Amino acid sequence: MQGYGDATYGDAFADVYDEWYSDLAEGDACVESLAQLASETNDHAGGVAVCRVLELGVGTGRLAIPLATRLASTAGMKAGAQVHGIDTSALMLAQMAAKPGGAAVHAHLGDMAGDLPDGPFMLVFAAYNTLFNLPDEQRQAACIAAAAHRLVPGGRLVVEAFVPADDTPGAATDTVRVRTLAADRVVLAVSRTDPTAQRVEGQYVELTATGGVRLRPWSVRWATPGQLDAMAAAAGLTLESRWGGWSGQPFAADSTRHVSVYLRPM
Ligand SMILES: C[S@@+](CC[C@H](N)C(=O)[O-])C[C@H]1O[C@@H](n2cnc3c(N)ncnc32)[C@H](O)[C@@H]1O
Repeated sequence: MQGYGDATYGDAFADVYDEWYSDLAEGDACVESLAQLASETNDHAGGVAVCRVLELGVGTGRLAIPLATRLASTAGMKAGAQVHGIDTSALMLAQMAAKPGGAAVHAHLGDMAGDLPDGPFMLVFAAYNTLFNLPDEQRQAACIAAAAHRLVPGGRLVVEAFVPADDTPGAATDTVRVRTLAADRVVLAVSRTDPTAQRVEGQYVELTATGGVRLRPWSVRWATPGQLDAMAAAAGLTLESRWGGWSGQPFAADSTRHVSVYLRPM
């Protein structure tokens, strides 16, 4: 999309993200699952080092803030825990900083493919399709490699993403639907799906009686689970588990999303 950059999505959605996505499923299960994975690695390492965790595309801290709280009260973290989050959008990070508990997350302004903070981390994760914000395979692979490079031996990279419905290359298709309809406001969701480029781009177009037009653009370059596995393998990671969701439900042929746990071997 012409004019679309690394901070475009975050800057466009920062003011509405928590409100619009307040109904995202399994937030608690996600935090619990991530805390358990971090604990396991910490215990395995004898609890002697700070248990450092990094979220890629941390946004408003929807997950990082409760995870920091959860790890702070986890028995066995003898040297303590730190949750870090990187994001390209200063507006998203400002939303996180303003929330209760937001200051507990170590915020880094930068690109998850090129500017990751120094490791080592016991756990790195990208939730809710965030890896697909990177616009091409090269940068997604670079991000996975950078994360792998910062993991302790025995540490994990966890990726949550949707499973593409159909990866058969074909003509692009356009859709328009109504997201919100009120007497003085309408939000239209406009999108274009290009299966050949493995990309969906869209705009939320908000029209109000008094405020004119507001555009919120987004762009996602998807990868199949197999493509993610190949990127992880190239970075020296092995697929340890794949679930159909954060509660550990089995990943099946009809799963619409996956949580993939990649291990850096000892
Ligand atoms: C879908 S939101 C997810 C936020 C949070 N992880 C969650 O689950 O609620 C994606 C986030 O990734 C950020 N982002 C997009 N491209 C990025 C990049 N190249 N590097 C770091 N963050 C990026 C956006 O600013 C946004 O905050």
